[in-house]
Amino acid sequence: MAAANVSLVTVRDVESLRRRIQGWRREGHTVALVPTMGALHKGHITLMERAKKMADRVVATIFVNPKQFGPNEDLSSYPRRETEDFEMLNAAGVHLLFAPDVSVMYPASFATSVQIGGIGEQLDGAHRPGHFNGVATVVTKLLLQALPDIALFGEKDYQQLAVIRRLVADLNIPVDIIGVETVREPDGLALSSRNAYLTADERAKAPALNAAIATAARAIAKGESIADATAAARAQILAAGFAKVDYIEARHAETLAPLGSNAEPGRILAAAHLGRARLIDNVAIPKA
Ligand code: PAF
Repeated sequence: MAAANVSLVTVRDVESLRRRIQGWRREGHTVALVPTMGALHKGHITLMERAKKMADRVVATIFVNPKQFGPNEDLSSYPRRETEDFEMLNAAGVHLLFAPDVSVMYPASFATSVQIGGIGEQLDGAHRPGHFNGVATVVTKLLLQALPDIALFGEKDYQQLAVIRRLVADLNIPVDIIGVETVREPDGLALSSRNAYLTADERAKAPALNAAIATAARAIAKGESIADATAAARAQILAAGFAKVDYIEARHAETLAPLGSNAEPGRILAAAHLGRARLIDNVAIPKA
């Protein structure tokens, strides 16, 4: 049997990462960065494929960032499958994998954090205190470590994308942030590494989250009040078997400020608990 064609290289320290990227720069290549926490699925591979279309060289990162997990969250059980991830990235034609250890990213003397106010303190930021500071800190580090031309993030984590756009603008980091649309299962469930936590029964109930917010989005576009549409969606999600809804809100699609009217570009964002999983999702409110 012919040996698998392996061209993907893994580096685990910042110096090796920079040496590779500087080599590409000298050859005149553009560079895309796709940060991940691993446990890759088709949604991540869509990000890699988009990156390949937009830049000459693609760097994926895998780092389960302890700073973005709360004390009672799933840091220790978060799925880690670097061997399978490597194979998927290699098959997708990614050029370089940066997979540092925690001690490389946060050496014992590490004392800095990026604090994101406003846009990072509401919705998921209110329910997961410190989460977006952890995301902002690691994403700032990854961007400065790699200095890519572009960096790609999924719209599934819509508030995270808005937070990253904010910090890049605020800190004048010279990179274009590209949001990529959510990849879904045929029944509407957004792909997520945390879907692995769902039992078969919960998996059957999970699409209710997307169905409820999509119904609310259409209702708001047709003129139903935001309060009525989101209340109906909340009831629908709980009736489907979710234990708790953390929030379901209609927000301005760019600023994430509460949506004033359906004339503004709007987005419905929601987070709800189903068994061990906390699922998040969001949809655009169609133009009225
Ligand atoms: O979306 C993720 O996987 C993570 O939050 C990110 C952006 C890689 C930062 O750890």
